[in-house]
Amino acid sequence: MVRLNVNGRMVEVAASPDTPLLWALREQIGLTGTKYGCGIAQCGACTVHVDGQPVRACSMPISAFTSNQKIITIEGLSPDGMHPVQVAWRELDVPQCGYCQSGMIMAAAALLAEKRNPTDAEIDAAMTNICRCGTYNRVRAGIKQAAQTRQG
Ligand code: FES
Ligand code: FES
Repeated sequence: MVRLNVNGRMVEVAASPDTPLLWALREQIGLTGTKYGCGIAQCGACTVHVDGQPVRACSMPISAFTSNQKIITIEGLSPDGMHPVQVAWRELDVPQCGYCQSGMIMAAAALLAEKRNPTDAEIDAAMTNICRCGTYNRVRAGIKQAAQTRQG
């Protein structure tokens, strides 16, 4: 049994310690907003926040986390309404098929928490998520719009 702090509540996960966090979130805890893309930390579809930092949940075993570490998934990103990134995403119709987008949003939110007004180069460095639909230009526009909203 591994105890995890997920979206502000403690959960007990009955799974092998080497179970990837992604599968514990999806299959044990029922939070299916975090997606499986590659399973090898390349695509970013499984991005969650751990103590505010973006983490690729497919490649971290649950034994790597303590119950003191705060894990936030897309479901818990903004419990009191939409996050500015989500507002911008909706206004700009950023998603196409949508599969990669929860990971994109989590990566973008982590970036904006660290840098209020990121440059193009900072966006490129932080947003290494892969989108098969090629939404990269709208992702960039969404991040810039969310940055403006937060400053306004
Ligand atoms: S599924 Fe985790 S990085 Fe691709
Ligand atoms: S919106 Fe389809 S994979 Fe990114």
